[in-house]
Amino acid sequence: MKKDARPGSGARALKTRVKKKRGLKNSSRRWLERHLNDPYVHRAQAEGMRSRAAYKLSEIDDKHHLLAPGMKVIDLGAAPGGWCQVAAERVKSDPARPSVVGIDYLEMDPVPGAAVLQMDFLDDEAPARLLEVLGGPPDVVLSDMAAPTTGHRRTDHIRTMHLCETAADFAISVLKPGGHFLAKAFQGGAETALLDQLKRCFKSVHHVKPPASRGESVELYLLAKGFKGRSGDGASGTGDGEEA
Ligand SMILES: C[S@@+](CC[C@H](N)C(=O)[O-])C[C@H]1O[C@@H](n2cnc3c(N)ncnc32)[C@H](O)[C@@H]1O
Repeated sequence: MKKDARPGSGARALKTRVKKKRGLKNSSRRWLERHLNDPYVHRAQAEGMRSRAAYKLSEIDDKHHLLAPGMKVIDLGAAPGGWCQVAAERVKSDPARPSVVGIDYLEMDPVPGAAVLQMDFLDDEAPARLLEVLGGPPDVVLSDMAAPTTGHRRTDHIRTMHLCETAADFAISVLKPGGHFLAKAFQGGAETALLDQLKRCFKSVHHVKPPASRGESVELYLLAKGFKGRSGDGASGTGDGEEA
């Protein structure tokens, strides 16, 4: 690995290059190079954040104001814990009685202010366990779940959209009236049925792509704000500002 001085606009930017080696595929070398040169990766390391993904949530929240002190939050697909860190800080979660609960089938180090369940969200028991650990219904349901990549783009796409749809069904069945839902999706991937369902159930539905989400990535986020409530909740509303 070596650092090249590159001419930039004024300042000389250092770019870390990874030598071509036998055994390292070109695609892996490119990934490693991009990772080593990613300013969000450097920032995450400097600021003690678990993931560069943490900045996607903080940028979305800075712009769209989902998280506020006192809220309860469920974070689906939480490992390694960046979103839990951001959510716990912004809702001012008490580490003794966390108001943020994350779930992932991968093991994850504890995050102060967040309780973590190590289980598959698609497990039938996951929804009840999440509510039990949270101690009540959430104000916000977040999902950054992504299916492990197979290399087959269409398959990866379908599997991640299935996670997004399952997360939306869950959010609609548990959110407090007025609550918000944010989930990872893919460009061109949200099925009309999912968008229609969100538009029926929330006051506004947007596609958002925060700066921390790489431009070349097909990832984007579906943001549904202002849950209208289930019949019987005593809350309802009319759609406004639908942009998706
Ligand atoms: C992009 S990562 C999440 C990063 C996280 N938001 C952060 O800031 O650290 C996606 C996560 O979704 C998890 N995941 C995917 N499918 C899942 C499922 N069915 N149940 C639980 N977690 C799942 C993966 O294990 C992975 O850790």
